[in-house]
Amino acid sequence: MNKDVVILTGAGQIGMAIARRVGFGKKIVVGDKSMKNAEAVAKIMNDAGFDVTPMEMDLSSRESILNIIGEAQKYGEISMLINAAGVSPSQAPIEAILKVDLYGTAVLLEEVGKVIKPGGVGVTISSQSGWRMPALTAEQDELLATAPTEELLKLEMLQPQNIKDTLHAYQMAKRCNEKRVMAESVKWGERGARLNDIAPGIIVTPLAIDEFNGPRGDFYKNMFAKCPAGRPGTADEVANVAELLMSPAGAFITGSTILIDGGATASYFYGPLRPEK
Ligand SMILES: NC(=O)c1ccc[n+]([C@@H]2O[C@H](COP(=O)([O-])OP(=O)(O)OC[C@H]3O[C@@H](n4cnc5c(N)ncnc54)[C@H](O)[C@@H]3O)[C@@H](O)[C@H]2O)c1
Repeated sequence: MNKDVVILTGAGQIGMAIARRVGFGKKIVVGDKSMKNAEAVAKIMNDAGFDVTPMEMDLSSRESILNIIGEAQKYGEISMLINAAGVSPSQAPIEAILKVDLYGTAVLLEEVGKVIKPGGVGVTISSQSGWRMPALTAEQDELLATAPTEELLKLEMLQPQNIKDTLHAYQMAKRCNEKRVMAESVKWGERGARLNDIAPGIIVTPLAIDEFNGPRGDFYKNMFAKCPAGRPGTADEVANVAELLMSPAGAFITGSTILIDGGATASYFYGPLRPEK
């Protein structure tokens, strides 16, 4: 039987929480660099009545992205994309962060945008981290938004001498995600499809736990203690936003980034999280 198909990249907590909200009655193909993670999510969801097939995929490879798209199309038309794959500043070196989070996301949005079903919808996950970096120039923003995907990693601003550390690489990647979603949403719109981005603050997942235990652990713990919400968030709260964005109630929302961070960004600019001058 032909079903609408959801591609879920990143078998993590955030991806699974979103897929559980929007994936009922559809075929879900979940791809992750770790087959173990993909299988674990497939098992939990299949045991709960979803129809999930796991596969190994690498977001940093166009070939792998085309492979998961081809696999998904065997089941029907792709009506949804959930991109929740990524690596954090404590998990990977600069080059890997740029290749996965920046380049890989751009390629995925481009390739799925070519085949998404009319009326389809996509969501990708950036981060509040991108909101802390000072504004880039209008020209830099435009390059991040529109440079051909194979040119992205050659941009001057992304060369090693211009990237301070893994946090800076992550912030550039997440800024690029937001800009890319704006530019791609115009193309998706030509197919009657929508594309949005969610920028979460600290959400308790294995990725965040790696950060709590990493070199910036105290920084992260301080961040959620001093944000207006006074706690980290949960993947299910991110899924609340995704459900709105991906449902007919969100039909007028496209090309947007929604910040969900318990107020941490607000506090960073105008409250107790403001860095000392
Ligand atoms: N957890 C947070 O606090 C937080 C905050 C802001 C943004 N984010 C973003 O949310 C997204 C999802 O993260 P999460 O917190 O659910 O983490 P998670 O660790 O639960 O899941 C991330 C998944 O991505 C997979 N992955 C890593 N590299 C990959 C690659 N090259 N190809 C395919 N899969 C790959 C991992 O194996 C893992 O299963 C990431 O983009 C992350 O940057 C998370």
